[in-house]
Amino acid sequence: MKGARPPTAAAPAIVRLGAVESTQAVAFELAERGAADRTVVLADHQTAGRGRRGRAWNDEPGTGLLVSIVLRPRLALPRLPLLSYATAIAVAEALDGVAGLRPTLKWPNDVLVGDRKIAGILLESRISAVAATVVVGIGVNLTQRRFPAELEGRATSVALETGRTVEREQVLAALLSAFDLWRARLEADGFAPVRERWLALSGTIGRRVSVDGGAGLAVDVDLEGALLLQDGAGLRRVLSGPIEG
Ligand code: BTN
Repeated sequence: MKGARPPTAAAPAIVRLGAVESTQAVAFELAERGAADRTVVLADHQTAGRGRRGRAWNDEPGTGLLVSIVLRPRLALPRLPLLSYATAIAVAEALDGVAGLRPTLKWPNDVLVGDRKIAGILLESRISAVAATVVVGIGVNLTQRRFPAELEGRATSVALETGRTVEREQVLAALLSAFDLWRARLEADGFAPVRERWLALSGTIGRRVSVDGGAGLAVDVDLEGALLLQDGAGLRRVLSGPIEG
């Protein structure tokens, strides 16, 4: 990426790359050099793709949508985690619109078809005294017909679910348009409409779950974006936020 010109506010853009270590790293690098809000980094392949909880996100070249979006968020810091709900909704709606899938959302932001994960979302932030940058990373499984043994039975792709391939660009366009809409709704109208849509798509509420920070019956998401878990000790609030990128 050395020498590439970062997109500016006048021209937010999609930066298309071949193989990179991680689109997240490229996005932060561009952000540091002044890239505009909503700059998108797209790659064909990642050699060190990052997942949540320090896990890797591995891909065979050309099989997935690997994208990161630079955000200069217009939200107070405690509300940044809410962006993950907006993003998960956008991914689910894009897969519905382009491939006719009916994904469900697993708290905080996995996208599933049946019990198998089709997309993952990683929010990373860098907060300084003057500015906050969030990079929203999204990986969608598109054309994989098989997965490595450790993911077998737990992961799926658009090709496996529909028997056909969809154009990566089509998924990207649908995703960005849904993301813009839900992000704008969150920033303009607050979390209530986002929460309502997330709950309608959720496969988590009403189930016993085990998440970072607790296990129990998932009963609701509150207006601050915390998952409400009922366990033997009562009702517990579990929060999930961007990690430092
Ligand atoms: C997860 O479910 O663990 C989150 C996976 C996020 C993967 C995407 S792929 C594009 C972007 N670049 C990365 O290195 N990670 C995210």
